Amino acid sequence: MSAGSADHAALVLGIETSCDETAAAVVTREGRVLSSVVSSQVPIHARYGGVVPELASRNHLVQAPPVIAQAMAEAGIGLDALGAVAVTAGPGLAGCLLIGMQVGKSMAYARGVPLVPVDHIQAHVWAPFLSDARDAGAATRGLAYPYIALAVSGGHTSLLKVDGPGVSTTLGATMDDAAGECFDKIAKLMGLPYPGGAHIDRLAKIGDATRFDLPRPLAHKGLDFSFSGLKTAARLAWAAASAGLDEGPALDAVRADLAASAQAAIVDVLVDKAFLACRETGIARLVAAGGVACNEGLRARLADKAPRRKIAVHVAPARYCSDNAAMVGGLGAALWQGGAGLTGRELTRAGIYVTSRRAVYAAVGGAAKAGARARGEAR
Ligand code: KG4
Ligand code: ZN
Repeated sequence: MSAGSADHAALVLGIETSCDETAAAVVTREGRVLSSVVSSQVPIHARYGGVVPELASRNHLVQAPPVIAQAMAEAGIGLDALGAVAVTAGPGLAGCLLIGMQVGKSMAYARGVPLVPVDHIQAHVWAPFLSDARDAGAATRGLAYPYIALAVSGGHTSLLKVDGPGVSTTLGATMDDAAGECFDKIAKLMGLPYPGGAHIDRLAKIGDATRFDLPRPLAHKGLDFSFSGLKTAARLAWAAASAGLDEGPALDAVRADLAASAQAAIVDVLVDKAFLACRETGIARLVAAGGVACNEGLRARLADKAPRRKIAVHVAPARYCSDNAAMVGGLGAALWQGGAGLTGRELTRAGIYVTSRRAVYAAVGGAAKAGARARGEAR
């Protein structure tokens, strides 16, 4: 390796720790993935049926150094090859984000390279631009701005109009649960392991989607989503159909049929609203992104229905839909190319945010000042 050569100094290290995946990736300036390592904490959280934030942050602390080292080793580079470090700044779990941010800051500061804070959702919707040795870019060639993005994950469900790297307008969002949460909760009530989305997807292939008539909340009504009513309807359907049944083929059939029926309802709503967003904006390019975009029923429906509506659908391979750091490094590289990146004092002050773009440090500082004012303390 030629230490610090122009080419190598153009590489970006991406770091992702917003929820329960510790991930690191090395990506070129053009968004080509040289390595992408994801260490999942699913086995740790599965016994609790969901992510335990404190356990998640402790594990990020343990996993971040070896995961980053592995990403560097797999890319065949040393630290001197990095031109920038990109890290997820939010939204996500506070303790988890803080670990990634501190690691990213430390590495960028120590190496004297810029730190590029990246928004997790913006990274998800940018992911279709990634390419790799397995030809990830093939399915998404021809994608150009502006496009409509259906961002569907465990914590978020929204429709965005994306105008550039990290630049978007929200057209609609969920008013209660996220689509992934809905998948996970329905899976949980049927006794399936966490996270349940992939299990529902698997069972849906063998189940009868017409057995349970579940609602399609807010279908054809605007671009906002609501999944809580669907979740309740699924709970009631499960309670009625499983009553008196012991574990065995009959209960397995209820599980598969409810999985298929619930998935059909969720996919109906997601596809309906994504197409509506395309129609309302006159934009015929659609990206599906986030963990739920791994769903084969959703992918099949989009691929089947979009051509008739003259909409080009771009979905990244599953490895870049669920949480990963390649999307963070890739968007970070694009932003860095556009002049973004913090150095020196600015870098040391970079903050995280949990639910919005507002930095937590700033929010805490503001609240402290307001409290001090209320107590009549001088500042
Ligand atoms: O984007 P992601 O990996 O993490 C968040 O940012 O939340 O999304 C995780 C979510 C989980 O709710 C998981 O159940 C769901 O994505 N998911 C799926 C599938 N694979 C993952 N949902 C439906 N079908 C799948 N095949
Ligand atoms: Zn995510």
